[in-house]
Amino acid sequence: MVKIAPSILSADFCNLERDIKRVSAADWLHVDVMDGMFVPNLTVGAPVVESIRKHTDMFLDVHLMIDKPERYIDAFCKAGADLLSVHLEADHPSRIAAALRAMEANGVKKAVALRPITSARAVLPYIERLDMVLVMTVEPGFGGQAFMEEQLSTIREVRALIDRYNPACELEADGGIGPANAKAVIEAGATVLVAGSAVYGADDPAAAIAVLRR
Ligand code: DX5
Ligand code: ZN
Repeated sequence: MVKIAPSILSADFCNLERDIKRVSAADWLHVDVMDGMFVPNLTVGAPVVESIRKHTDMFLDVHLMIDKPERYIDAFCKAGADLLSVHLEADHPSRIAAALRAMEANGVKKAVALRPITSARAVLPYIERLDMVLVMTVEPGFGGQAFMEEQLSTIREVRALIDRYNPACELEADGGIGPANAKAVIEAGATVLVAGSAVYGADDPAAAIAVLRR
């Protein structure tokens, strides 16, 4: 069954513990880390992940939208992340490989993320040792944007590569996902759906999560 990962980007950061409890019906918790360089927005860092870790047993899916992410892998692992995603566009391939090795050394799950401009084939050098591929379905940087329909074909292409080279690998889609497109995203091959506004914007987040799973 597909996993739902609510993004706390749409939560109330003054009431984060309450807002994490509001999505306890979900499978994972998605934490968007932005550095104001890789994307034009700033959010939270490792200290916030460390605080979240003390208040929940949920699987922490940490999406690093930062330049040269290798610099921060150890910090986010020590903070208690369960999985880290690094963007393929954020550094040279040799440094992305080094970031993945650092995750492995820390025993956390490893993922690479693709901006909409990046082709599915960019995952090929890494795919056999990944736990997940994250396909952006909006331009990274902000919650609440419109889903990019054309990214369904990237999801299908990544699905074909995963089936061929590493069938156990998860495929996460992130951005603009809600009741209107969740089914199409799952049919294209995603196994994890991130949802920020669709879950936190709902009066009943548990019901919104159930709708996305159908
Ligand atoms: C965008 C983030 C997403 C975003 C999802 O840069 O990576 O995780 O918060 O939020 P919605 O579901 O509102 O697009
Ligand atoms: Zn994200």
